[in-house]
Amino acid sequence: MTRLTSLPPGGLAVVVGAQGGIGGAFLAALEEDPAFARTFGFGRRTAPPVDLVDEGSIAAAAEHVATAGPPLRLVVDATGFLHDGRFRPEKSWRDLDPAHLAHAFAVNASGPALLMKHFLPLLPRDGKAVFATLSAKVGSISDNQLGGWWSYRAAKAALNQLVRTASIELARKRRQAVCVALHPGTVDSGLSGPFAKTGLQVRSPAQSVGNLLAVIDRLGPADTGGLYSHTGERLPW
Ligand SMILES: NC(=O)c1ccc[n+]([C@@H]2O[C@H](COP(=O)([O-])OP(=O)(O)OC[C@H]3O[C@@H](n4cnc5c(N)ncnc54)[C@H](OP(=O)(O)O)[C@@H]3O)[C@@H](O)[C@H]2O)c1
Repeated sequence: MTRLTSLPPGGLAVVVGAQGGIGGAFLAALEEDPAFARTFGFGRRTAPPVDLVDEGSIAAAAEHVATAGPPLRLVVDATGFLHDGRFRPEKSWRDLDPAHLAHAFAVNASGPALLMKHFLPLLPRDGKAVFATLSAKVGSISDNQLGGWWSYRAAKAALNQLVRTASIELARKRRQAVCVALHPGTVDSGLSGPFAKTGLQVRSPAQSVGNLLAVIDRLGPADTGGLYSHTGERLPW
């Protein structure tokens, strides 16, 4: 199990999307990590709940963490939306549906932006602290060779821009803090299940999270504002 050694010990960790495939593995790993005094896992079915389309629930969760005492050292946003019973990834412009686009942006971009709004101010002014949001390589504009998946790609590209913008504001008062987007690789979860083609290397959530924690541990202030793969490689926008 990967242990974090670069963060000042005794702080708090938060996982949002803690009931998802990758989020659940983050919660399990961080709860075992002695670097943290306590780890909070939030999701739509936790107490208090966090629903990304309800800003009040995000503000209440941040308040809950703020009153816990120790400084907040790590926030992992492992939420995201690719498909549900209503919407499937678009193969063509013929499939475009404004309701699908709006939902993809609400969960993959606006929601994480609201997490930044309410959790970034809780990061301490001294010492390393990290806000990491799960994005996806398919959100990279320069890497887009295949097309398709319109809503998801565009919403993740928007998320990447939000991360970059947040990192600039964060650095003004928190010089050692880091705000990044992470690509977990193809991971066995409800989100990827219907689309994991044969030939693709599919990792377990625990494997991916072990790699991502190692990446988080290596990040320094000079790395803030970037998109990083689970391999540690900085990906192009
Ligand atoms: N799996 C992959 O291969 C892969 C590849 C690249 C990037 N990613 C990214 O990794 C992240 C985690 O994905 P995953 O594979 O772990 O998928 P997952 O198991 O489907 O988890 C998605 C999480 O998002 C949460 N969520 C969705 N809508 C929400 C809302 N309105 N409010 C609060 N939470 C909401 C879900 O909460 P509920 O439990 O309440 O439904 C769930 O915890 C996503 O950002 C995804 O885009 C995954």
